[in-house]
Amino acid sequence: MARYDARVIGTSVRWLFTSREHHNYTYELTKLSREHLAWFVSITCAVPVATVRGYFAEIDNDTALRGHIESATAASARRGLADKHVRYARRIGWYAIVRAKRPAHVVETGVDKGLGTCVLAAALLRNTAEGSPGTVTSLDINPEAGYLARTAPWNGVVDLVIGDSIASIGALDRKVDMFLHDSDHSVAHERREFEAVEAKLAPGGMLLTDNVTVTNVLAEHAERTGRRFLAYRETPSRHWFPGDGIGLAW
Ligand SMILES: C[S@@+](CC[C@H](N)C(=O)[O-])C[C@H]1O[C@@H](n2cnc3c(N)ncnc32)[C@H](O)[C@@H]1O
Repeated sequence: MARYDARVIGTSVRWLFTSREHHNYTYELTKLSREHLAWFVSITCAVPVATVRGYFAEIDNDTALRGHIESATAASARRGLADKHVRYARRIGWYAIVRAKRPAHVVETGVDKGLGTCVLAAALLRNTAEGSPGTVTSLDINPEAGYLARTAPWNGVVDLVIGDSIASIGALDRKVDMFLHDSDHSVAHERREFEAVEAKLAPGGMLLTDNVTVTNVLAEHAERTGRRFLAYRETPSRHWFPGDGIGLAW
């Protein structure tokens, strides 16, 4: 117990003095957690695990995206609340899912700085270059959200919509191939989002949640609607935060 607690306290103290983040923490995944994520995407998207590892390498090596996020963060009025280093954590799973499934229309709720939006946009730009065009509609209630995703070429595939997600989902005028909940993480709001998007889904549309370590909302929705469901729980490397995850219904 003492060894375990000393490690958590040591990591927490180091973080206190080195990180500027006070919410929506960023970190790398442990090697093992990254490998488990590759298998999670492989199974849920029915692609070889080696292909998924290749997608992870793609986003790791996207120096244009990393450079953009670093410079946009440094220039932002909210730079005091963001770390300099770019760390995607489970978002590399979102990237690989978009690369594997090539959705024409992704909808994400909850944008914050726009880190996830940029990752999704990078995958959609690659798909577009390979002949499978796609865009992401990103919904947030905060007018300041998404400042990382307002720069070319990434903004060319991003439609940023400000307002409450339930109203914005109701106003969508295109079918949705992939939906990602990452906004108000209360059980009631998460449930309302999945109910609202149901009528907007394209055949075979996938549902993802960022809230899977906290609620069982998506699993219950999957059971009600006759879908399969799997959850992945990430393990952050060198961070006190226990991690989030990806819930996927398909
Ligand atoms: C956890 S952050 C999103 C993180 C982001 N997806 C990422 O990859 O970094 C949650 C966001 O949800 C937004 N939000 C909260 N309630 C909302 C609502 N009712 N409708 C739309 N967005 C909401 C907040 O403004 C906040 O930016």
